[in-house]
Amino acid sequence: MKRLPKHVAIIMDGNGRWANEQGQDRLYGHYHGVISVRKVVEAATEIGIQYLTLYAFSTENWDRPEAEVTGLMTLFVETIAKEVPDLHKNNIKLAFIGNLDMLPNEAKKALADATQTTAQNTGLTLIIALSYSGRWELVEAAKSIAQKVANGALLVNDINETVFAENLTTCAFPDPELMIRTSGECRISNFLLYQLAYAELIFTETRWPEFRKEHLIQALLEYQSRERRFGKTSAQIQQI
Ligand code: FPP
Repeated sequence: MKRLPKHVAIIMDGNGRWANEQGQDRLYGHYHGVISVRKVVEAATEIGIQYLTLYAFSTENWDRPEAEVTGLMTLFVETIAKEVPDLHKNNIKLAFIGNLDMLPNEAKKALADATQTTAQNTGLTLIIALSYSGRWELVEAAKSIAQKVANGALLVNDINETVFAENLTTCAFPDPELMIRTSGECRISNFLLYQLAYAELIFTETRWPEFRKEHLIQALLEYQSRERRFGKTSAQIQQI
C-alpha cells in the first residue's frame, strides 16, 4: 500500500472482439464494458488510487461506422446520467478531457451536469477521455501558449515543461505512473502522449469486458515490482 501509484490510466480495449467471440454485435461488448468500468472504479476507490483516467473514445473513433458511434454516444449519456448519483454518494469527482465541442449537445449537457454535481468531492478523481487524442491536445497547448506570447502575457524564454503542462487538458492532475492497456495490443494509440513520458506500461491479454479488480491488483503488483529509474542508475535509485 505504501507504493501505490497516485494516478492510473487505462486504455479499455477489446470490447468489439469480445462481443464477436460471443457471437454478438460490437455494441454488446461496449455495454458489458460499462460493467468493467463500474468494477474498476469501485476497486480503485477501495484500494486508494487518487486519479483514474479511462480512454473511452478517441478522436479517431469518430471514423467508426455511424451506428457504432451513435450507440456509444447514447451509452455514454445513459451511463453518466445513471451513475452520477452513486458516484456522488461515494465522494467521486468526475472530469472529462478531450475535444468535447465535437460531442452531440445531449452528451455535452450530461458531462457538464456530472462535472458540476461532483465538483466539490474529495475522493477518487475519475477522468474520462472522450473525443480525446494526445496530438490534438499538444496542438491545442501550442496554440494556447502562442496566444499568450502574442498577447504579451508570456515570454518565449519563460516557456518550460511546467508552463507546457499547465496548458494541457490534464493541468489539474499529476501524470499517471501506470498505464494499462487491455486485450493484447501493445500501443499507446494517441493517449496522453506528454503525460505518459515516465509511466510504467502494462499490457494484458484480458479483454476489457472481462477486466475485474483482480486484474487491476495484478497490474499494481507488477508495477510495484519494477524499478523506476527516471534516467538514473539503479545504484543511484537504491541510495535514495
Ligand atoms: C475499445 O474497444 C472500446 C471503446 C472504443 C469504447 C469504450 C467504452 C466503454 C467501455 C463504455 C464506457 C462508458 C463510460 C461512461 C466511460 P474496441 O471497440 O476498440 O474493441 P476491439 O479492439 O476489440 O474492436
